[in-house]
Amino acid sequence: METRIIKIDQINPDIKKIKIAANIIKRGGLVAFPTETVYGLGANTLNSEAVFKIFKVKNRPADNPLINHIADKEWIYKLAEKVPEEAIILAEAFWPGPLTMIFKKRKIVPDVVTAGLKTTAIRMPKNKIALNLIKYSQCPIAAPSANLSGKPSPTTADHVIHDLYKKIECIIDGGKTNIGVESTVIDLTVHPPLLLRPGGVTYEMLRDFIDIKLHPSAEAMIKFDKKPESPGMKYRHYAPKADLILVEGEIDNIIKKIQEICEENRGKKIGIIATEETKEFYGNNVRIIGSRKDIRTVAVNLFRILRDFDNEGVDLIVSEGFSTRGLGLAVMNRLRKAAKTVIRA
Ligand code: TXA
Ligand code: MG
Repeated sequence: METRIIKIDQINPDIKKIKIAANIIKRGGLVAFPTETVYGLGANTLNSEAVFKIFKVKNRPADNPLINHIADKEWIYKLAEKVPEEAIILAEAFWPGPLTMIFKKRKIVPDVVTAGLKTTAIRMPKNKIALNLIKYSQCPIAAPSANLSGKPSPTTADHVIHDLYKKIECIIDGGKTNIGVESTVIDLTVHPPLLLRPGGVTYEMLRDFIDIKLHPSAEAMIKFDKKPESPGMKYRHYAPKADLILVEGEIDNIIKKIQEICEENRGKKIGIIATEETKEFYGNNVRIIGSRKDIRTVAVNLFRILRDFDNEGVDLIVSEGFSTRGLGLAVMNRLRKAAKTVIRA
């Protein structure tokens, strides 16, 4: 299949170009598009056949449901059966933005979107290309992250091209995404609401508005033995080809431990994920993920660095850990899920 690549400025998007992509969605095709978090792979939510293709090209397990992306709050009421008061408060506070809310679904939402569940996920992304694409497609857009299943989510159009070129009709190149980790997923069908996946909107930010509980999987500390609330939780995620060792703890201990690991694995091609503050403590092939003084700089580079190490063909990736405060929880959730081994230094 030919894949059309359309370059669009995310600050000042050319509506004519967006309409080309919207027409592809309308005709039942797939379009990869930027959001503020990561790139999404979109289809018309209401077209089961189109949505089915998303699962096929990503090689996504059929029991992992998709998020409906909307550009107008009115669509909540068309897709969701019960809209609790908390949803209105959170939509007011955080939409458009990196927050996905789960509701009881209405019949109009096809089973393929929800993977057969009675609930469905909705979010309004904060990106002018995404919002206009939804608006001109005249339907909600069902979209997972635009990566092959199990791989790190794409934060540039090049990442999408790497995974999906010639498999989908269109890729919109809207530059780098500005958050770098996916949206926060919160289940509003239970009381108190449950944070299932930490993301761009932090636990602390949500707690300023509503009473909310943290699902154990959000911290990704342990493997679960019980049935996961969100089917997506049970799959290995964000996994680079090389094994990843994550070292958590006090920063001085982390540095010492990583130096030891490098010593033990001499002869292997090692990639180290370090920070501005710690880069000089290790040998070569260090990637600076960001600064410990601002976790947002870490989040925005995380998936790109995992992909870069894959492309370089390193044998082993060793990463420093971070505090789980604020956006740090989302970063550590992704690192722990990507890691083969987590060490407490
Ligand atoms: O930032 C994001 O959320 C990006 C952009 C493209 O919007 N999308 C994204 O989609 O990360 P995806 O499919 O990679 O992750 C969606 C998560 C999965 O963990 C899925 O299991 C969960 O949301 N989810 C979707 N519908 C659900 C439902 N009804 N109940 C529980 N979890 C649900
Ligand atoms: Mg994903």
